[in-house]
Amino acid sequence: MQSAQWHGKCPGCEAWNTLVEERLPAPASGRGKTVGKRGVGGATGARGRERRPTLAARPLRDVGAAPVQRMSTGIGELDRVLGGGLVPGSLVLLGGSPGIGKSTLTNMALGNLQEAGHKTLYVSGEESAEQVRLRAERLGSGPANAALKVPILAETDLETVLDAIAAEGPAACVIDSVQTLNSGELSGAPGSVGQVREVAGRIMELAKARGTAVILVGHVTKEGALAGPRVLEHLVDCVLQFEGERERPYRELRALKNRFGSTNEAGLFEMRQGGLVEVLDASARFVAEATRAPGSVVLAAMEGSRPLLVEVQALVAPSELEQPRRVVSGLDRNRLALVLAILGRHGRVGTGGADVFVNVVGGVRVDEPGCDLAVALAVASASRGVPLMGTPRACFGELGLTGELRWVGHPERRLEEAAKHGCTDVIAPPDSGGGACEATTLREALALALPSGSRRLTEAVA
Ligand code: TYD
Ligand code: MG
Repeated sequence: MQSAQWHGKCPGCEAWNTLVEERLPAPASGRGKTVGKRGVGGATGARGRERRPTLAARPLRDVGAAPVQRMSTGIGELDRVLGGGLVPGSLVLLGGSPGIGKSTLTNMALGNLQEAGHKTLYVSGEESAEQVRLRAERLGSGPANAALKVPILAETDLETVLDAIAAEGPAACVIDSVQTLNSGELSGAPGSVGQVREVAGRIMELAKARGTAVILVGHVTKEGALAGPRVLEHLVDCVLQFEGERERPYRELRALKNRFGSTNEAGLFEMRQGGLVEVLDASARFVAEATRAPGSVVLAAMEGSRPLLVEVQALVAPSELEQPRRVVSGLDRNRLALVLAILGRHGRVGTGGADVFVNVVGGVRVDEPGCDLAVALAVASASRGVPLMGTPRACFGELGLTGELRWVGHPERRLEEAAKHGCTDVIAPPDSGGGACEATTLREALALALPSGSRRLTEAVA
């Protein structure tokens, strides 16, 4: 469906709010009204098209590919998530909810790049130059504060920004945020799907032509809604998601897509007075903070290629509601439902009439199948009101629907990390090797972790 006019409701399919403004491609005659600025218009006229030579495809091995040169942002965790640093000419989309620290992170990165001798440019459409300066002042002190050396442009007009990038020729550029820029050639409001696509597309053209690495900052609400960055995911080379809870200090940076590296990587930061600080000893911290109370267990998780020990806590309480609550934070909700069903069926831990809360401590997110057993043990321990034996009790493993414990990736690295932090007997799936307490089923794992008297006690009560 195409229309020259804007409609709230699509006349074609009758859906609301689905029309998106787009610029027309250059007409063959080259006389269109918005042509030319993109630099493709006039050259490909109708006659040019007829004479276009046929291109021959060639085998990949004959394609010359220069090794990718990367620029280090000076922030180890960011470099790792990017796959080793910023790639010249690449487009990175950094998404996250407001206040999570996107501006702080990008400002710090540009400061380091500038310090290392690269030309940089920070385009702020959201905050005034003064506001950005005030934040940069918090990121260091005196002449050593690299963040203050970054050239800034507070501007929301796309054409002006493009001219500035062309004139300055930075090696790395940050657009904060892509939703605030606005092209005069489209009538849509800034942040609308049409505008966001246009802004990103035009910036990409320029960035690729000049070899500028661009980080587009974009707001994503918790639901991932908002006409916004989601529509850009296919366009950019790399999509990074910055997440965490605003009230908590921990922030996690994940790659959702990366043409130049792995999407398994995640970086952990802490928001402090002087900006974002990389958290390198996260496991030690989480294990030391683990409560060892009923409902607490240490999960030996993998964050990409890196093992991480986190505490998983559960609370099981009698429910007043007809449909008891299932509340999770840091985990997938459906995963909890599945684990509760398996626990009830194969572990004889019923939670039917109870509210169940499960939390990964510290605001960290664990998105991997290896967390099932930890959730199960935490809920079982909470439901019986007894702490797990051998605290800090650590575990990992995926639960199958028939109650079996399944192998998960990198068992040796998880075990090594656990041993390093004083968790010596780790309950793990079969074939995990290296001194783990292996259990083949959920029932075996429960028997290993819970004191033998506790089951009889609760069964007697019930
Ligand atoms: P900001 O980078 O502006 O978030 P975003 O660009 O994602 O919206 O920073 C978010 C919060 O971080 C802000 O509320 C204040 C806090 N903060 C600190 O705690 N310490 C600091 O040094 C800085 C710069 C910010
Ligand atoms: Mg910001």
